[in-house]
Amino acid sequence: MNLKDLYIDFFVKKGHKQIPSAPIVPENDPSVLFNTAGMQPLITYLMGKPHPYGKRLCDYQKCVRTNDLDAIGDTTHHTFFEMLGNWSLGDYFKEESIAYSFEFLTEVLKIPVEKLAVTVFAGDEHIPRDEVSKEAWKKHGIKEERIAYLGREDNFWIAGDSGPCGSDTEIFYFRSDDEVPEVFDPKDDRWVEIWNNVFMEFYQEVDGTIKPLAQKNVDTGMGVERTVAILEGVNDNYLSSIWKDVIELLEKITGLPYQGNEKSMRILADHLRTAVFIAADPAGIKPSNTDQGYILRRLIRRAIRHAKALNIDIQSDFEKQIALKIIEKYKKYYKELEENQETVLSVLKEEKQKFNRTLEKGLREFEKHVAKQKEIDALTAFHLYDTYGFPIELTEELAMERKMNVDLDGFHELFKKHQELSRTASKGKFKGGLSGNGEMEIKYHTATHLLNAALKQVVGPDVHQKGSNITEERMRFDFSCDHKLTDEEKKKTEDLVNQWITEGLDVTCETMPKKDAIASGAECMFIEKYPEEVTVYTIGNVSKELCGGPHVQNTKELGHFKKKKEEASSAGVRRIKAILE
Ligand code: ALA
Repeated sequence: MNLKDLYIDFFVKKGHKQIPSAPIVPENDPSVLFNTAGMQPLITYLMGKPHPYGKRLCDYQKCVRTNDLDAIGDTTHHTFFEMLGNWSLGDYFKEESIAYSFEFLTEVLKIPVEKLAVTVFAGDEHIPRDEVSKEAWKKHGIKEERIAYLGREDNFWIAGDSGPCGSDTEIFYFRSDDEVPEVFDPKDDRWVEIWNNVFMEFYQEVDGTIKPLAQKNVDTGMGVERTVAILEGVNDNYLSSIWKDVIELLEKITGLPYQGNEKSMRILADHLRTAVFIAADPAGIKPSNTDQGYILRRLIRRAIRHAKALNIDIQSDFEKQIALKIIEKYKKYYKELEENQETVLSVLKEEKQKFNRTLEKGLREFEKHVAKQKEIDALTAFHLYDTYGFPIELTEELAMERKMNVDLDGFHELFKKHQELSRTASKGKFKGGLSGNGEMEIKYHTATHLLNAALKQVVGPDVHQKGSNITEERMRFDFSCDHKLTDEEKKKTEDLVNQWITEGLDVTCETMPKKDAIASGAECMFIEKYPEEVTVYTIGNVSKELCGGPHVQNTKELGHFKKKKEEASSAGVRRIKAILE
């Protein structure tokens, strides 16, 4: 039996009911993007609501933690992991919980007690030292020298800033071939934490005040990846049975050995596994530029970049082969993987293709800046994000490889402003029209700017945009004008737009204070609706507009512009319908 089955079997025999793994995207909790711990779906029950399955529960839970993407690539961190958990909802407490853990570790997993050590809560001004846990451990044969007393930073657990919480006792395993030291030193990293038993008896408010909960609970968590690696005696999680065949597949696809290529192979394996699980989740997440969708996008794009670093042919179906291997491995435990297999494969493929179209150009753009600059400044990082779809950690990683800094604060500031602008834009408050962010819509968006500029040159400077509406198939542009356009005006406008397309003008984006943007003569529709800092898109020297983007990088990408119709929209407003072909 494998670890998950052994664990569930053990706790079911101890009177626990197995509950199914909840979706990774929390169902009723908009405060977190993903479940980061097994207890997250159980919060209301820890606070006192009776659980339909009773007071003793156990499960394996899908978890995603993406706050530390940089750490991925080492031997122990993963963005997706499974957490084994057993809970007492107002039933047993410290002694019984410790007895169960001890029995499972030493009798079921057969870990020698000499290889174990524990930490318990040292006590502070609010909560006394945890003598009960200490005595319980000693009773089972854990020696005093193998018990460390630690404070709130280490032995107190809460998810986020507020919620059910309490002191905990953590169990460590000596993961090394060295002789086990008599005295446990929690700072010695040969000791790795394998299990955390939290005694949830308090509720913490956002302001930090703590009050007792209606019931005393136990919440435990054991990481599957780490424990399996320990049981199999490997010092690199990716060499355990969980990853081994995925790594072997990568060796086959690349023709390269794992040794010497660990980092990219680990990142590729880790990120694709997480992407598979997110895309298969019932929430139906698709790659996007916000929330869970953006995490999914970042994971896939970073994986693609590392596939490239391993010289994988991006056009091949490598991502499909890896995804199928992962689905095969996990489908027994998570049936949604097989049920949503087609969705998963198409999400991966489409996002890969989308990114692949700009990746090369983006890498060249990056190199251009590297040659000129000492640091990747905020605008460059933002440009790489906005125009080439480079998530910031990709830029950071490329910069790190060249020992360069990235102005992250500056980037995040620009990013926030950009998101505010796009949000306002998508709510239709101004610059109506750009609803989707598909490739065609982006092209039409840039064409709108060109048409606006052309009309000004041909018809006169009083032409201003009054509205626009874009779909994948066409654009519609409303503008102020007191007459029906003459045939000559129509032709000249169309020719001018096409001339600019043929000229291959660069589209650039910069951020500046609103007043500077206006002073520079940038065009805009409802000036009062824009924030104090705005982004301005410039096309060659023909157009300059306040706009939330996104746009193509060069007008060449637009193809051929063709006017279909010119008609009245309302008094003093004309409407042009046009297509790109
Ligand atoms: N909720 C506890 C943890 O995640 C068990 O470590």
